Amino acid sequence: MNERDSTYNIANAKLGFQNEVERLKVQAMMGWDKEFRNLSWYGLQNGMSVLELGSGPGFVTEQLLNGLQDSKITALEVDIDLLDVAKSRLDKFPSPRLQFVHSSVYDTGLPDNTFDFAIARLLFLHLHYPEKAAEEIFRVLKPGGKLVIIDVDDQVFGVVEPNFTLLSSVIQKLANYQASKGGNRYIGRSLPRLLAKAGYIDLDMDTVTQHSDLHGIEGFKRQFDINRFIAFYKNGILNKEEFDQLNQASENINNSPEAYAMMNFVMACGKKPILNRL
Ligand SMILES: C[S@@+](CC[C@H](N)C(=O)[O-])C[C@H]1O[C@@H](n2cnc3c(N)ncnc32)[C@H](O)[C@@H]1O
Repeated sequence: MNERDSTYNIANAKLGFQNEVERLKVQAMMGWDKEFRNLSWYGLQNGMSVLELGSGPGFVTEQLLNGLQDSKITALEVDIDLLDVAKSRLDKFPSPRLQFVHSSVYDTGLPDNTFDFAIARLLFLHLHYPEKAAEEIFRVLKPGGKLVIIDVDDQVFGVVEPNFTLLSSVIQKLANYQASKGGNRYIGRSLPRLLAKAGYIDLDMDTVTQHSDLHGIEGFKRQFDINRFIAFYKNGILNKEEFDQLNQASENINNSPEAYAMMNFVMACGKKPILNRL
């Protein structure tokens, strides 16, 4: 087993490092208010010690620091370049409030029973061994602590208007490709069982919708940036008809005031049980 063992490596991002960081930024910011609302609903409170796993360039970390003024946030990330971006972006926050950990979700190196709340956003879909990650997070949570996984399930990805007939075929082919590399873009549906298997109880799950009419079209422009898909066409994963339709959708999102898009994220929550001492 390797430290990273996931399908996300920014070094391979089709958009290049800087544009990919920007894409992560808009993707994190678009629906944050709703995600934070749900995190609070699941029990996230100011003052808690919070672990964020796969924190990347730290846009979610920043929102957590702003939203939870008395909390200590630990941002864990396997990629040293992304960790460095987060460190320099967030250097205004003093060290007792913010700690960075350079390690893998599979083996965090953090002590047992430490955190009140853990958040993994758009990490689990990439993991080769999601069960191992859920177990490791379970270990570092305090009894009674909670994990929320924010992720996707491409079967309920969302919609693009004007619709294009081959959208579902494109989504499926890209998901199949990611599966061949060890990821799972349909992970959303299996999160309750994954959490239960790792020992979590009091499971819950919701879907959060981001809509361009509510959150702006910018984030969707990044999602549908055609440069993300050219390589899939060139290496034969997408056929010409699929690529042409995707290209048209990208054009629409960028230039047509009639166009809009909607995207769904799932949020699954589980609690580490409090064991009764006899
Ligand atoms: C799609 S990005 C999401 C970043 C951030 N959570 C967000 O929502 O914007 C996935 C992140 O998980 C990190 N990652 C991948 N494999 C990991 C692992 N084994 N342990 C910890 N982080 C990992 C990547 O480097 C990347 O920063």
